[in-house]
Amino acid sequence: MLLKQVTIKAPATSANLGPGFDVFGIALEQPNDIVTLTAIKQGIKIQTSGIGAKTISLTPEKNTAGLVAKTMLKDFKLESGLKIHVEKGVFPGKGLGSSAASAAAVAIGINTMFNLDLSNKQLIAYAAKGEVASAGSEHADNVSAAICGNFVLIRSYKPLEIINLECPKNLEFAVAMPKMITPPNKTEKARAVIPKLVPLEKHVYNLSKAAAMAVGFATGDIDIIGQSMVDDIVEPTRAVLTPGYSKVRENALNAGALGVTISGAGPTMIAVVNRKTGDTEKIAAAMREGFQSAGYDANAFATRPSKGAYVVEMKK
Ligand code: HSE
Repeated sequence: MLLKQVTIKAPATSANLGPGFDVFGIALEQPNDIVTLTAIKQGIKIQTSGIGAKTISLTPEKNTAGLVAKTMLKDFKLESGLKIHVEKGVFPGKGLGSSAASAAAVAIGINTMFNLDLSNKQLIAYAAKGEVASAGSEHADNVSAAICGNFVLIRSYKPLEIINLECPKNLEFAVAMPKMITPPNKTEKARAVIPKLVPLEKHVYNLSKAAAMAVGFATGDIDIIGQSMVDDIVEPTRAVLTPGYSKVRENALNAGALGVTISGAGPTMIAVVNRKTGDTEKIAAAMREGFQSAGYDANAFATRPSKGAYVVEMKK
């Protein structure tokens, strides 16, 4: 072991972006998790603080961060224990990649602490294992964005292959997170409602939008990114789990958003804005009113694409 303590800052992320279920992800500048790993003699001890911290299991096998740490300590035969302190800034269970932020931070932290020299792809694979604790499966869209930053496209799961693109400089996001209680296994439940078979015309619709969105990011065209933010397969089934969905959508578009969708497994909604032509704060406020019309207040804010998780402090 080379370091006694490492602190990592990891961004919230939004997965799917409309047509790219389990394939597209984006890292957001706000909010963040701050995770501190400290070497201890043995075992894994988890502490949490911050927003929604009380809802998180402290049992390593049921905790995203704990699961990643346990797997990495075992795989690399690291003869050390770890105290993991997670300061939650990303509210758990709201669709902003809360578990992914913690998982990504732990993977990067262990890599740094023990000088493992792992590639981003390896870090993503470890961080994705943490998603099992909250989602019941190893989807890698949030963790890829949390590690690589900006826009990610998973072009293959087996083997894992990622395309990582910079974002247009005027791209912003309006986000509205309803203040509603979600169950601990919300993502698993929101995945259970997705149809297993898809009519060909819906596949064609989503495929055209997903391809266009990738081109939007590749060419830096915010209009195309926004116009492509639609989904005829997963979103309709999850809209019913999102109170005020239609009103939030309508309000966002009327206030100047270029596109709007459910963030990850929801219930947060996210809208694409070109800051040259739209007022992101105003759009976020309009989205909040949409949730309010359905009886839920919401945290509404403006944010931008961000870089991936990084080490903020190291102690020898
Ligand atoms: N792609 C995942 C889903 C993201 O939509 O279920 C969950 O955060």
